[in-house]
Amino acid sequence: MTTGQESTVPGAPTVSPEQQQREDDLVHRVLASFDSCTDQRLKHLMHALVRHLHAFLREVRLTEDEWGKAIEFLTAAGHITDDKRQEFILLSDTLGASMQTIAMNNEACGDATEATVFGPFFVDDSPEVELGGDISFGASGEPCWVEGTVTDTAGKPLAGALVEVWEADADGLYDVQYGDDRTAGRAHFHTDNEGHYRFWGITPTPYPIPADGPVGAMLQAVGRSPMRAAHLHFMVTHPLHRTLVTHIFVRGDDFLDSDSVFGVKDSLVKDFQRQQPGTPTPDGRDLGQATWSKARFDITLAPASS
Ligand code: BEZ
Ligand code: FE
Repeated sequence: MTTGQESTVPGAPTVSPEQQQREDDLVHRVLASFDSCTDQRLKHLMHALVRHLHAFLREVRLTEDEWGKAIEFLTAAGHITDDKRQEFILLSDTLGASMQTIAMNNEACGDATEATVFGPFFVDDSPEVELGGDISFGASGEPCWVEGTVTDTAGKPLAGALVEVWEADADGLYDVQYGDDRTAGRAHFHTDNEGHYRFWGITPTPYPIPADGPVGAMLQAVGRSPMRAAHLHFMVTHPLHRTLVTHIFVRGDDFLDSDSVFGVKDSLVKDFQRQQPGTPTPDGRDLGQATWSKARFDITLAPASS
């Protein structure tokens, strides 16, 4: 004989009818507490949040000890967060919530270039460089020539598009992580009349996301790596088009299938062709006996209304 009844929560274990009634009643009371909210969008968000949160609690039958640990985790995330370190975004990134939000808000539009995570290392007002200039400003790493064209979805070149680029150095660190006032591995420039752009950067290397806080502890507890696949960030802005925030990744990189923030899209994986010392460079720059690489990234912007 069983006194249980199938739960109203999908995936939740069977509980007694009386228990089920108590739990359902609480959910209804919490939902009803938003009845006088006049902002319909806010009300919708709070209702959905409460429904999903309670469904989660009931599905996993959260213990009071686990609830306490979750509160400790969020408290630690708050304590480590300041104007430079944002642990909540890192949490969103590592749970795939950032990428899901980006996917929904950058709907596929023709062959428009796919978006990916923004990351915490963008800085406004990066230095302006000429087309063909060097964005490394002394950051360590193998020189890398990057070029491409910015077009609309009909293939029309977009002149004057603002292209902002930023990347970590060969030690896997962004300039802002050094704690001094250096600016390196970042710059901006504009496309020419044919929509072309080109610059010298450094060949991207893989690096870990900041892992010395609660998010790092979570990754370790579940056996996940903090490594990001090697990448080079782009933000491309044009008045008549949807702003694109994206990166390009290095074909053959070890972390393409395990990027800690789920940022990799096949369409963004590019060939970074390694060049032997002495190979002539596209702009005649003399790199002596250094190896260098080159990559092409053609960018298609969706219309602003999409
Ligand atoms: C990054 O691209 O640098 C990054 C992205 C998400 C979280 C941490 C770092
Ligand atoms: Fe990055």
